[in-house]
Amino acid sequence: MAILVTGGAGYIGSHTCVELLNAGKEVVIMDNLSNSSEESVRRVEKLTGKQIKFYCEDIRDEKAYDKIFSENDIEAVIHFAGLKAVGESCRKPIEYYDNNIGGSVKLFEAMKKYGCKKIVFSSSATVYGMNNISPLREDMQTGGTTNPYGTTKLFIERILSDIYDSDNEWSVILLRYFNPIGAHKSGIIGENPKGIPNNLMPYISQVAVGRLPCLSVFGDDYDTPDGTGVRDYIHVVDLALGHVKAVEKASAESGLHVYNLGTGHGVSVLELVKAFEKASGVTINYKIAPRRDGDVAVCYADASKALRELSWKAERDVEEMCEDSWRWQSQNPEGF
Ligand code: NAD
Ligand code: UD1
Repeated sequence: MAILVTGGAGYIGSHTCVELLNAGKEVVIMDNLSNSSEESVRRVEKLTGKQIKFYCEDIRDEKAYDKIFSENDIEAVIHFAGLKAVGESCRKPIEYYDNNIGGSVKLFEAMKKYGCKKIVFSSSATVYGMNNISPLREDMQTGGTTNPYGTTKLFIERILSDIYDSDNEWSVILLRYFNPIGAHKSGIIGENPKGIPNNLMPYISQVAVGRLPCLSVFGDDYDTPDGTGVRDYIHVVDLALGHVKAVEKASAESGLHVYNLGTGHGVSVLELVKAFEKASGVTINYKIAPRRDGDVAVCYADASKALRELSWKAERDVEEMCEDSWRWQSQNPEGF
């Protein structure tokens, strides 16, 4: 029995494959490499000493599923594949709806066809919209997303919950990630964004290695202790371990469950910059810039439901997140 990991060559997917393999599971990856490289799959194999069956296929391609499901005994799916750049999604909404929603629908059709009804889906804290007050709880109202990327997450959650309502044999786990950062301890896999990063940690680490000249801190006049935005940064290995717990729950029983994967603690932009400087010994050149459109002041999780129901909690602190991000970035300054 194997776990099909869509998007398994990507940042969170590759780290999750490591933990699945370490937990003794068989892994099949389906990834079209639109935002990753096969090298990450090879490195995961090297790291774990185990083999992965890799299919370079698009989740929108119906025929690919016939091959994958007939050649493997797929027990459950972890669905990471998707486009994820917020700004790009505003410029290319059709591409985002086609890739993320169109691709997901094809995946769910194939799962139904082959009688595989267990799925863990990569959702995001973005589904809470702008109006809920942190700590964010799973039972808070979702909606009010401010960009097509976020809307795809909201719609896919809805599609999966409709599928579950139509057939209670399904097991659906929606994981709402907060802000994944960090990398595997080995420093051989990590986040490898194409072009100029949109997110804070890859931006900081590229300034640190000299690929970018200066970090812009988007706003220092928020109602937060130091005026800069506060987020719930979570180590990608903790996040990966959360998926192992989730897929085990999905395999054990049917149902529809939603979990936040975060630490439950907020960290400001300047606190993260300072922590990174301490971990790396490098001074980060930064300037204060205007607020970024669509940003909220504070966003962090109530992570207690995952602890109660999955026996999972984030164990790694911000210092470790920065050390591990730095090890990956300094050993691989140009990425994979
Ligand atoms: P990533 O871009 O590194 O990984 C996504 C993978 O999906 C890539 O390897 C890409 O090549 C693949 N992919 C994209 N479209 C595909 C398609 N049509 N067919 C096959 N493969 C396809 O991103 P990530 O950070 O690892 O994110 C994984 C998932 O988690 C995404 O769904 C993302 O939206 C979600 N998520 C990420 C974050 C974050 O901050 N990184 C936060 C919340 C949610
Ligand atoms: C991003 C995504 C969001 C996703 C979330 C979780 C955007 C606009 N939003 O939001 O959809 O759900 O990640 O992964 O990409 N910052 C700077 N300078 C920078 C970059 C960021 O000051 O160059 C600040 C931001 O204003 C924010 C914090 O750093 O306060 C974190 O930003 P980022 O890493 O982009 O994450 P989110 O804003 O949480």
